[in-house]
Amino acid sequence: MRILFLGDTVGRTGRDAAVAALPKLRERLRIDLAVINAENASHGFGLAPDMAEALFGAGADVITLGNHAWDRKEIVPYIANHPRLIRPMNFPPGTPGAGCAMVELADGRKALVASAMGRLYMDPLDCPFRAMAGEMAKHRLGASVQAILVDFHAEATSEKWAFAHLFDGQVSVVVGTHTHCPSADHTILAGGTAFQSDAGMCGDYDSVIGMDKTIATARFLKKLPGEKLHPADGEATVCGLYVETDDATGLATRVEPVRMGGRLSQALPDV
Ligand SMILES: [Fe+2]
Ligand SMILES: [Fe+2]
Repeated sequence: MRILFLGDTVGRTGRDAAVAALPKLRERLRIDLAVINAENASHGFGLAPDMAEALFGAGADVITLGNHAWDRKEIVPYIANHPRLIRPMNFPPGTPGAGCAMVELADGRKALVASAMGRLYMDPLDCPFRAMAGEMAKHRLGASVQAILVDFHAEATSEKWAFAHLFDGQVSVVVGTHTHCPSADHTILAGGTAFQSDAGMCGDYDSVIGMDKTIATARFLKKLPGEKLHPADGEATVCGLYVETDDATGLATRVEPVRMGGRLSQALPDV
């Protein structure tokens, strides 16, 4: 299976770039499953229903969220009726929406997309490791499902590597989100799981992790209430990763970074 994952979509420039890139990348890389994190799509904070519709319309099979999941409250009724929009599985019981989505491809193959959130330097939540282990008890990679991708939304690189090692061989891909900076550690782990500790963002890198640099830098200089943060609006770099998996085992055979447009160095797999 050919899988594309794009990191946190930040603001209008990130949304526009992702909506433009999704159909092009789907065609060029012959993508079977496309997943995008959109927790910062609405002015940096949350996701509005019309923005989710635009991303689904552009070719996202599943949209994931993170700590900013509920910043736009209109998404609460929307997520109840849209099972392919998911939020971290280790939110408290009774939270709207689901932490996983099963996608059936046109050819009958199945892919599970899961979302979990870390706890180091993050809001306290249920244990993501135990939540994921509970979910994994329901599926058998390479048998009941051909691929499993997990978006692990976390601040600490250590927690992301630990999560990936714990589920190495049981899932196809563990990809980190939340830092908005693409890491250069994309690899296939010993057990066959593709991993990158952070996918980076779809946003303007002439910024402080996607937000206007003048306002964001002032916050570090002065301990005064400042102007409200808003996203930088220059050309976005679309960041993510491309993974190929073996349908018979569900394990990864190839992992490559994707960086398109904007200020970062460019990377596009040769397919
Ligand atoms: Fe984010
Ligand atoms: Fe986040």
